[in-house]
Formats: sequence, structure tokens, C-alpha cells
Amino acid sequence: MIFERVKPLDQILATAEKKGLKRQLGAFSLTMLGIGAVIGTGIFVLTAVAANKAGPGMMYSFVIAGVVCALTALIYSEIAAMVPVAGSAYTYSYAVLGETIAWMVGWALILEYAVAAGAVAVGWSGYANGWLHAAGLGLPDFLTAGPFWVEQLKDGAVIHQVDGVTHKGGFNLIAFLLSLVVTWLLVMGTSKSAKVTSVLVLVKIAALSVFVILTFPAVQAANFEPMLPNGWGTPLSGVGVLGAAASIFFAYVGFDAVSTASEETTNPNRNIPIGLIGSLAICTVFYLLVAYAAVGSTGAQPGGALSESKEPLAFVLRNLGWEKVGDLVALAAIVALPSVVLMMLYGQTRILFTMSRDGLLPGKLAEVHPKYHTPHVVTWITGLCVSLFAAFFPVDILADISNAGTLFAFFCVALGVMVLRKVAPDRPRPFRTPAIWVIGPLAMAGCVLLFFSLGWNPTIKFFCIWAVVGLIVYFAYSRRRSHLANGSSHG
Ligand code: ALA
Repeated sequence: MIFERVKPLDQILATAEKKGLKRQLGAFSLTMLGIGAVIGTGIFVLTAVAANKAGPGMMYSFVIAGVVCALTALIYSEIAAMVPVAGSAYTYSYAVLGETIAWMVGWALILEYAVAAGAVAVGWSGYANGWLHAAGLGLPDFLTAGPFWVEQLKDGAVIHQVDGVTHKGGFNLIAFLLSLVVTWLLVMGTSKSAKVTSVLVLVKIAALSVFVILTFPAVQAANFEPMLPNGWGTPLSGVGVLGAAASIFFAYVGFDAVSTASEETTNPNRNIPIGLIGSLAICTVFYLLVAYAAVGSTGAQPGGALSESKEPLAFVLRNLGWEKVGDLVALAAIVALPSVVLMMLYGQTRILFTMSRDGLLPGKLAEVHPKYHTPHVVTWITGLCVSLFAAFFPVDILADISNAGTLFAFFCVALGVMVLRKVAPDRPRPFRTPAIWVIGPLAMAGCVLLFFSLGWNPTIKFFCIWAVVGLIVYFAYSRRRSHLANGSSHG
């Protein structure tokens, strides 16, 4: 029963053809779009979380997470070039694994996109609060973080300088406000503008390049000792090198945003693989350099100053005496991260929109604003939820939960691509994943490894509850309303 209701690929392609979004994005724009969605809170903020979990061994974590994403990008390229339509992993699963799995993937993508948008907003607030504080406009602690954040702050943590005092959060005001503003922009019709994206990508790349150039000369062998203070990590513990890899995986997420723009791509057969693999490759190079430089120049022991900072890259620079440059890198994060929130929210509304067009969610969600021509209902609902996530939860919890959803979706896509090779071997494949029977299982194994390296509490526990709720919604509502099952032509 689980694999029934497969939506024929030709039907999906025909719908996309009919809807006819203008195909205008080339390989360069797609790569920029990918980098724009990828570089964000992960590298700018979660570097501290990774240090706390793995110590200097977090460099291995960056490599492991990067390898899993590289394998997945090769697989995504095959299916995204074959089915160049919006909806990403949800649509692919519908075409291969049937409606139940597609629903679960779509449900998991809510974690990937909406929760990630919240995580990026919270990460951004760390830099923005630091900046406000430096300008003498700092908010009270209570308004700088959610209630689940309690931290024993040490000297050197940038927002709060008081040694040994326990600070407790209540409501992360500016993360909340940022999410609302981004939602409003989306409702007004702001979407991914290629020009703005390119400028912000340059800002981020410039910030990371300056960081690497200035910190590299300060690298000292002593800072790598002990290399693995928390070891490699055990399943479900969420610590050690693997625990950090599962968290830092967040830094790479977003390259699949390239595939959500498939319907707007010229020559998708060639450009989508270039965009997916190219953006990921460029980001990986930067991440490895930044991780090495941060660890080597400053040290990254769990509980150390770096691991406690809410703006770790700025902290490293300031700590090395580059005060002003640290401020500029913080400014770059403040300017550029909101666009990552925007892309995540945008991706989320597109997926929910597609699911509602398929009948699996109420049609009201797909309602388009008469003046702005945007799906305003789904955008406001999503945006309000994201704002509340951002107001109440800390960045590491949100990022981990988002990762759980993403890993599940990536796993299903890898499975789907292999199944499709068997059931439709002759369908034209503009891009073929090389050695699929090696890469596919390796990607799936990598997703499983990272998934179970997340902590049980609260991440995997939350994921399980989310999955059960998803199944209940599906069987109580969506399954009966599905346009595919009812033979309606909407889909
Ligand atoms: N990869 C994106 C980030 O790091 C989601 O913010």
C-alpha cells in the first residue's frame, strides 16, 4: 500500500510545461543562487556549536558533512535535470515512490525549510545583538534569546562580558521581527532577485576570504591539541566528531534550492548539475579553510571562548586584534543572512503551494493575492510559525531539527533515483550520476549515519513525533482529498 499512487512523470512534466514559468536562469545565476542559499548561519554561527561538540576535530566534521552532501548533490543532479519542475524532493518522491512517501518527504521538508529559516534568523540575531550592544543600544538579555537558552558565560563571549553570571533568555525579539519582515517582503512579491543575490554572495565570500587571509598566519600547532576531546561520538549522543558533523550539516543545506528553481532554468539538463555541484564545491572549499583557520588560530576546545560565542567568526578576528575587521565581518553577516531566511521561507511556500495544488493540503493555502500575485495565505501562516520558532528556540536546536528533516528527504531522493533506474531504465537522463550503485547506497548510508548522530533529546524525539503527526494528517485528511486519487486534473 505504501508505494501506491505514483504520479506519472509525464503528467508532472506536462503540468510544469502548462504553468510555464519563464526560463531565464543560466549556470552562473544558478550557482550564485546555490551559494546564496548555502552560506549562512551554518558557517557564521554553528562553527561555535561544532567546536563545543567536537573541539578541533570539528574539521573532520566539516569534511564528513561535506562528503554526504557531495554524494547527495550528484544524485539530486540526475533527478533535477530529469524532472526540472518546482517542488524538489517532494515532487521526485511523488513520481517514484508514491504518494505516502511523497507526503512524508513534503512533511519533512517543512522541517528542512521552515525550521531552517527560524534557525538562520536566530543565528543572525547573535550578530545583530552584538552590533546593537557595541553601539550602546543592547537589548536586555531577556529579549536577546529564547527561554531555552541558558548559558554560563565566560570572558570573551561578545554580547555579555560579565564573567560567571548565568544569563537567561525569554523572547528573541529581533529574530522574531526579522522573520516577520522577511515574510512581509515575500508577500509583497520580493523573491530571489538575481542581482541582489549576486551582491550578497560577493559580500559573504569577501567576508570569508578576509577571515581566512587574516587568521591563517596565526595558526599554531598547539591549538590543535587535544584534537578529539569528545572522541568520535556515539549514536544518538549528539556530541563528538559525528555529533558535530550532524549539526554542521546545516551549513551545507540549501544547495538543493537550485533544484527548486528548475522550472526557471534555461537548458536545465546542463545548468542544474553545474549549479548544484558547483555551488556546493565552492562552499565546501571555503568552509574547510574557515574551519582550519578558526581552530588553528584561536583553539576550539569545548567550553572555550570560541565555542561560547554567538558570533564566532567576528570573535576570532577580534581576539587576534583585528577589532575593526571583526566588526566588518559581523556587518557582512548582518547584511547577508536575511537573504538566506528569505530563500528558506520562499522554498517552503513553494513546496506547501505544490502540495496544496496536489490536493494534499487545503486549497485555501494556494490562494494568490489579487494585487501582489503571491501565495499570501501560505506565506503568512508559514512566516508566523517561523517567527515563533525564532523567538523561542536556540539556533542549535532548530538547526538540528532542520537537519533531521533534510536527511530524511535526502535519503528518500537517493532511494528514488535508484528505483527509477530500475523501473524506467530507458527514460532520457541528461545527467547520469556516475557509479549510481556505489554513490546511491553511500549517500543513503551517510544520511543514516548523520541522522543517528543527532541527539535523541530533543532532535530525534521531535522528529519521531513530527512523523507520527504527519501520518495522522495524511490518513485522516490528505489521502482522501488527493487530486491524483480523485482523478482531478489539477495536478
Ligand atoms: N546552509 C544555510 C546556512 O548555513 C541554511 O544558513
